[in-house]
Amino acid sequence: MSASGHEGSRSEAVAIAAERRWAMVVGAVLVLLVAMMVVTGLHWAAMPPSRVETVDVKTLHIAGEFIESNLGTAVGADGKVTVRLVAQQYSFQPQCLVVPVDTPVTFRATSTDAIHGFIIGATNANTMLVPGFVSTFTTSFRKTGTALMPCHEYCGTGHEAMWAHVQVLSAADFLARSRGVERLSCVAR
Ligand code: CUA
Repeated sequence: MSASGHEGSRSEAVAIAAERRWAMVVGAVLVLLVAMMVVTGLHWAAMPPSRVETVDVKTLHIAGEFIESNLGTAVGADGKVTVRLVAQQYSFQPQCLVVPVDTPVTFRATSTDAIHGFIIGATNANTMLVPGFVSTFTTSFRKTGTALMPCHEYCGTGHEAMWAHVQVLSAADFLARSRGVERLSCVAR
């Protein structure tokens, strides 16, 4: 074997070893990302938006589930708590939500114009709001108090001023507030 041939096979071996190392790094990154998805999915119950439900943006305010008088917190005959809200540039409606503590609360929300989103305090309540689609998720709030609910998708010049509040009440307070009221919110009237 000539000297240059020997050199060639050596540098080839070095290249293969280097590529193998990089492949292991890439493989480790992939394993880490999948592990993060599994941990957040199982541990925090973080989920991508579930069932795809559509809604007509043009008639949103006139008819159906998202008319103004139907927004806010509803307690069903079976005791299930549902919060309905609409996002628009640059506010949520209602601007103040009321929910009971330690109770599954189902959110149903949509947007009338741009893509918005919200997160509630330090909870796992976090969703995007896309015009034409209904975002829905169910979560429980672990402690009472008032949490901030900012829009977290850049939606235009007023984005940073777009937020609502969420009042988490004890079960007794919530029951008292919701008695005889069809749609509950904490918006000052
Ligand atoms: Cu709405 Cu950002």
